[in-house]
Amino acid sequence: MHWYEDDGFWSDFSGTMFSEHRRERTRELIADSPLLDFPTGSRVLDLACGPGLYLVPLAQRGCVVTGVDLSPVMLERARAACADAGVGVRLVRADMLSHVEPRSYDVVLNVFTSFGYFDDPGDNVQVLRNAHDSLVPGGRLLIDVMGKEVLAGWIGRPQVVELDDAYVVQRDTVLDDWSRLRTDWTLVRGGTAREASITSFLYSGSELRTLFERVGFTKVECFGDFDGAPYDQHARRLIVRGTREL
Ligand SMILES: C[S@@+](CC[C@H](N)C(=O)[O-])C[C@H]1O[C@@H](n2cnc3c(N)ncnc32)[C@H](O)[C@@H]1O
Repeated sequence: MHWYEDDGFWSDFSGTMFSEHRRERTRELIADSPLLDFPTGSRVLDLACGPGLYLVPLAQRGCVVTGVDLSPVMLERARAACADAGVGVRLVRADMLSHVEPRSYDVVLNVFTSFGYFDDPGDNVQVLRNAHDSLVPGGRLLIDVMGKEVLAGWIGRPQVVELDDAYVVQRDTVLDDWSRLRTDWTLVRGGTAREASITSFLYSGSELRTLFERVGFTKVECFGDFDGAPYDQHARRLIVRGTREL
């Protein structure tokens, strides 16, 4: 089993990835970000939606939302979040490596570093191709990852995230001449430790832009944050957006 197929990983470490603080911050992003300002009625696919942090506020602002994820645990949490909020969202269990719904969406989102998981670089390109094919002409794909240049600014210091009843230590190791990153996670709760390692591809702005162009996206732009800032020395994220032409 690959690390990303391990339901236990996503649920055990969900306190750091899907905190209440992040859920609140995501609500603000959907309200304020010019990159997430979709017209009412837009058909939006959240690819690798996790427990639905984006699904709920997107549906609340009038988008017609589908969430796709491989993890049954994450999908169940997304279902519960949507039910609590009283919004209708279509949820599909699928692998982004094979999931295509031809010409069905105005927007495909893939956020919070949910891209680059496959060992074969061609498989990651296939995910872009699938997203391209799932868009209607004129539709847009937006991917949000930790860009290579951003990471280079602070990598090397282990990070500690404190939770109510536990803490998580994250240690990063650059692999294969800055092609990939391994992050070792340790969750310490009540005197016991749970460890996990994840490895994914790293992309610079120009590398990810080139991959978008390779599968046919046009008007490809890079941003350094959800406020639409440029991807420069102040960038906090790498956000790449492209348009399906035909
Ligand atoms: C870092 S989380 C991000 C979740 C969500 N986008 C967010 O912003 O909170 C990555 C998600 O990708 C999902 N995932 C991992 N591999 C996948 C695959 N091959 N196909 C679909 N989803 C996948 C995981 O189950 C997890 O929910």
